[in-house]
Amino acid sequence: MSEKILLRHEDVPDLRRLEVYERDGGYQAARQALGGMEPAALVELVKASGLRGRGGAGFPTGVKWGFLPKDNPKPRYLCVNADESEPGTFKDRQIIERNPHLLIEGTLLSAYAIQSHTAYIYIRGEFAFGAKVLEEALAEAYAKGHLGRRIYGTDYDLDIYVHRGAGAYICGEETGLIESLEGKRAYPRIKPPFPATHGLFASPTIVNNVETLACVPAIVSRGADWFKGIGPEKSPGPKLYCVSGHVNKPGVYELPMGTSLREIVYTHAGGIRDGKALKAVIPGGSSVPVFTAGEIDVAMDFESVAKAGSLLGSCGIIVMDEDTCMVRALQVIARFYRHESCGQCTPCREGTGWLEDLLMRLEHGGARPQDVDLLRRVADNMIGNTVCVLADAAAMPVQSFLSKFRPEFERHVETGGCPARGDRLHPAAAAAQA
Ligand SMILES: Cc1cc2nc3c(=O)[nH]c(=O)nc-3n(C[C@H](O)[C@H](O)[C@H](O)COP(=O)(O)O)c2cc1C
Ligand code: SF4
Repeated sequence: MSEKILLRHEDVPDLRRLEVYERDGGYQAARQALGGMEPAALVELVKASGLRGRGGAGFPTGVKWGFLPKDNPKPRYLCVNADESEPGTFKDRQIIERNPHLLIEGTLLSAYAIQSHTAYIYIRGEFAFGAKVLEEALAEAYAKGHLGRRIYGTDYDLDIYVHRGAGAYICGEETGLIESLEGKRAYPRIKPPFPATHGLFASPTIVNNVETLACVPAIVSRGADWFKGIGPEKSPGPKLYCVSGHVNKPGVYELPMGTSLREIVYTHAGGIRDGKALKAVIPGGSSVPVFTAGEIDVAMDFESVAKAGSLLGSCGIIVMDEDTCMVRALQVIARFYRHESCGQCTPCREGTGWLEDLLMRLEHGGARPQDVDLLRRVADNMIGNTVCVLADAAAMPVQSFLSKFRPEFERHVETGGCPARGDRLHPAAAAAQA
């Protein structure tokens, strides 16, 4: 697939300006749908396209929209999840910063489909530039009648607001996001009830990822069959793959769903830096199980990656070369989850702390032989016991690193710290012993 849909701004300079976007065919899909399609038909079209959410879970988008209750008199809300918190993931900001009208058009179409008149783009606080670009693009869209009252002369109204978060991973979890939008601390809610029935301000709400909504204009203009024809039948469409780590050309690549992980790493991202050997790849952002170098002949779509023992997640592909210390890599991941746990559930609050402390001991010295098994036990006890899946996200990498690289962890116990480090003890531990 050489034609770009989501990264079209790479071929069309200044696509973020409304006049360029319109000249390139922008907002034609919105005019077409609002002018002649029933909202229910639009929901059916997205269902038929097979579009699945790009935020991590891969839930079919049209099916989710269909869960909104038909008889609830409360207003409906659409929340655009632009929090983009998963380590290794930096795709949504490409769309936001370089092609904001694609997101706005996708939001307009999706809001029309679910008959929402208010949409919020919840953007990570640190994305100051992205928020500014969006505000400017929204002002342009209002001025040209793509948003506001009686859009294109129809009786459909829509307001879109940008809401800046304060920058916490948990704000990307859909119910945490909703709590935050309501002005509260982003504690995830117990589900059910799901946002489709009890979401923002206790009203029917849909939360969708930026990349998901950015697919909708092309589905409307080119049809469900065109979209379904890209990639595998059960996970179709164009996909943004983020590649970071020890590759020659890190970046965001738009390729069909189901492109081989080996092809992404070795062809598109230019292979491993300095001609080194590959050691491991995390395919879907830091929260999913790791693949060894021998496991990368896998098609990058939801089914295939799950069948191979990991998850497609947010498609944040993190590449590690032969010099990588897997204990150190895991410790960095564990530190992130400890910092980002909202603290609401004991297994997560305490477990993430234990994971990082044990990994610190392994990496910097002071670990006992039984600590490797203890690490595994702590991770096993965190899975499936909490309000949201952040605890699972913290535990799954630990389980997989231990399953696939256990001798490296044991060697850290034997050598009293990382064999690759000069300083056996962490400065804090060394100071305590002095
Ligand atoms: C801890 C945690 C963090 C998440 N962070 C994000 C995020 O930054 N962006 C995102 O779109 N989805 C994130 N998700 C997934 C959302 O909860 C939700 O599934 C998604 O926004 C739904 O959109 P989609 O159906 O279009 O994928 C996160 C989930 C969890 C559990
Ligand atoms: S699992 Fe962790 S992040 Fe999720 S609600 Fe519980 S404490 Fe908060």
